[in-house]
Amino acid sequence: MAETFDVKLAGKVYMPDPAYRERSWTGDWETAYKRYLDDPDGFWAGIAGELEWFAPWETVREWDNPYARWFTGAKLNITHNCLDRHAASERRNKVALIWRGEDDENERILTYRQLHREVMRFANALKGLGVGKGDTVCIYMPLVPEQVVAMLACARIGAVHSIVYGGFGASALNTRIRDAQAKIVITADVGFRRGKRVPLKTIVDEAVVNAPSVEKIVVLRRTKPEIELFSEMEVDFEEIMAAAAPYCEPEVMDAEDPLFILHTSGTTGTPKGIVHTSAGYMVGAYYTTKYVFDLKENDVYWCTADPGWITGHSYIVYGPLAAGATVLLTETTPDFPDPGIWWRIVEDFGVTVFYTAPTVIRMFMRFGEEWPNRSNLDTLRVLGSVGEPLNPEAFEWFYHNVGKDRCPIVDTWWQTETGMHMITTLVGEPMKPGFAGRPVPGVMADVVDREGNPVPPGIGGLLVIREPWPSMMRTVHNNDERYRKYWTTVDSLYTAGDLAVKDEDGYIMVLGRADDIIIVAGHNIGTAEVESALVSHEAVAEAAVIGIPDAVKGQAVKAFVILRQSYRPTEKLKGDLSYHVRMSLGPIAMPAAIEFVDALPKTRSGKIMRRVLKAKEMGIDPGDISTLED
Ligand code: WT7
Repeated sequence: MAETFDVKLAGKVYMPDPAYRERSWTGDWETAYKRYLDDPDGFWAGIAGELEWFAPWETVREWDNPYARWFTGAKLNITHNCLDRHAASERRNKVALIWRGEDDENERILTYRQLHREVMRFANALKGLGVGKGDTVCIYMPLVPEQVVAMLACARIGAVHSIVYGGFGASALNTRIRDAQAKIVITADVGFRRGKRVPLKTIVDEAVVNAPSVEKIVVLRRTKPEIELFSEMEVDFEEIMAAAAPYCEPEVMDAEDPLFILHTSGTTGTPKGIVHTSAGYMVGAYYTTKYVFDLKENDVYWCTADPGWITGHSYIVYGPLAAGATVLLTETTPDFPDPGIWWRIVEDFGVTVFYTAPTVIRMFMRFGEEWPNRSNLDTLRVLGSVGEPLNPEAFEWFYHNVGKDRCPIVDTWWQTETGMHMITTLVGEPMKPGFAGRPVPGVMADVVDREGNPVPPGIGGLLVIREPWPSMMRTVHNNDERYRKYWTTVDSLYTAGDLAVKDEDGYIMVLGRADDIIIVAGHNIGTAEVESALVSHEAVAEAAVIGIPDAVKGQAVKAFVILRQSYRPTEKLKGDLSYHVRMSLGPIAMPAAIEFVDALPKTRSGKIMRRVLKAKEMGIDPGDISTLED
C-alpha cells in the first residue's frame, strides 16, 4: 500500500435547489451527523424503530473489536418488512416491481400483494425440496422477477442465499457453489443479452460437476420449446411453484442469524464469501435507501445493477422493498437495440430516481447527448452513481444531460463488505464533482496514515471506518482470519483497501483501490482469480494481471503471460487464452490485452510485483523496487 501523498483538489461546487434540503428526510448534514455523534446507539435505534420486529432488541450494539453484534435479542424476518408490512397496509396494491425485458412487449408488473404471494409460494416450494433454516441456496439467474422472488423466498424460510451474477462462467460458479456448500442451485434456461441467449443452465451443468453439496437444480424455463430436464435432480421452477401451498409463515430469525453470503474478489484465487446477517443488514439497507435517495411515496426508483451484485441486494431488493418503493428492473443493456433504450424506459415509466455506474455514464458520453435528448426526462428527481470514482467529466455530463442541471447526484461510496452506503453527498447538500462526499450520518469514515492518524486535507491516505455500523459484514465465510485482517491492517480500524483524500470541508475523494483488485466497468475483478484461470490453460506457465486505463470501463484487464516451453507466442494463442478466461470466469474478466513475456517482476518471497508491471505499462517511475528480486 502506498504511503501518504499530495493530491490536487481544485474544482467546482454545485448548489442544488434549497427545496431539496427542506423536504429531505435527513435535513442538513451537519445537524444529522451531530445527532449521530451525540448518541450513536440512539440514532440507530431510531432508524430500526421505523421497521417492524417480532420481538424488540435488548442491546443496540455489542462491540468486541473486530466482532460486532447489532440489535441483539431482536426477532425478525426481513421479508416481513419488505412484504407483509406493505401487503397489510395502503401499499397493498402499490406496484412493487416493474420489469422490462429486451422485447418491447415484454413487461411485467407485480404489486406488493402479488409479490408477497409469489414469495410465499416459492418459499413453500423450497421447503418441499428439503431446504430449511441455515441451508445455503445458490441463485444463478438472469435479471427477471423470479430472481427477486427466489432471494426473498430464501429469506422467508431462513435459508442463506448465495447469488452468483449471471455473467460469471462455469469455474467461477463452481468455486462459489463449493465455498458456500450450496444445497440447491436455482437457475434459468437462458438469459437474454443484446438479442442473444446466454445458456445459463448449460453453465450450471458444468459447474455442478465436483460440487457434491448440490442436491437439486431448479430451472426456470423461459423459452419454447422448453429445454429438457435430465434427471431427478432437476426440477421445474413453475411446476414446484404451482404445487406449493399459498401461505408461508415467515421464519423467526435472530438478529444475528445469517441472511446471505455474497462473494467478492480477493487477493487470493478464492473469492471471499462476505457474510451479512439479518437485523443489522436490514436496518442499514433500509436506512440508506430511504435517506440517501430521499425516497418518497410516489417515486419510481430504478437502480441499473443486477440483483446478483451487492448493489442489487441492497438497492434493488432489500432496501427499496423495505422502504415500500416502486422498483424498476430490466434485463435490457444500455445500448441494445440502440443507446436510447434506457432513456425511453425513464420516460415510459416516469422514473424519478436513477442509480447507475460511472462506466455506464461514460458509455453514454461516447454515444452522445442526442440520445438522452430524444426522451423526456422531466420526471427525474435524484441521480446516483456507484462502483468506482465518478470522474468530474462524467459528473458534469450526467448532471447536464440527464439531470438537466436540476437533479442532485449522490455519488455513493461503499463495498460488498459494508452492505450499505458509507460516504455520499446527501441530496440538497453542495456537490463537488470528483468527491463522493462526507460520511453518511451513522458512519465514521476517515482518511489516515498507516498508524491510523488522520491525514491533513490534501494529503492522500487510507480510507478507514472507525466505528462499527449495523450492516457491516460479520465474517468471511470459511475464513475468519481474512475477516480480522480488515480490522488489523491499520490497528483496530476497518480498512477498506481504498486510497482517498479529504478537503477542508471534510469531503472525501476516493482515488481507487490500494490492493490487487481491478474494477472493470464497476465489476470487482481479483487479479489472482484471472491469473489462476490463465495458469489453468495448458500453454501457460505463469501469469500476472494488472488494470490498465480504459476510457469507458475505467479499467481493463491486461495479462502478462510466460508460456510453457513447447508453446509459440502467436496471435491465435492470445485469442485462445482470452477465450479460456471468458469461459471459466465470464466475459467481465476477459483480458483486453495479453503480452507474452520471458519473466515477471517478483519479490524475493516470490510475490509478483504488479505495480512494477503497471508502472512500466504507464511509462512512470515504479517507485521503491528494493524488494524486487531481479
Ligand atoms: C469497491 C467496492 C458497493 C457497490 C459496488 C462495488 C469502489 C464503489 C465507489 C464510489 C469510488 C467506489 C471502491 C470500493 N467504489 N463505489 N462511489 N467512488 N470508488 O462493490 O465490488 O464490493 O467494490 O468499489 O474501490 O472499495 P464492490
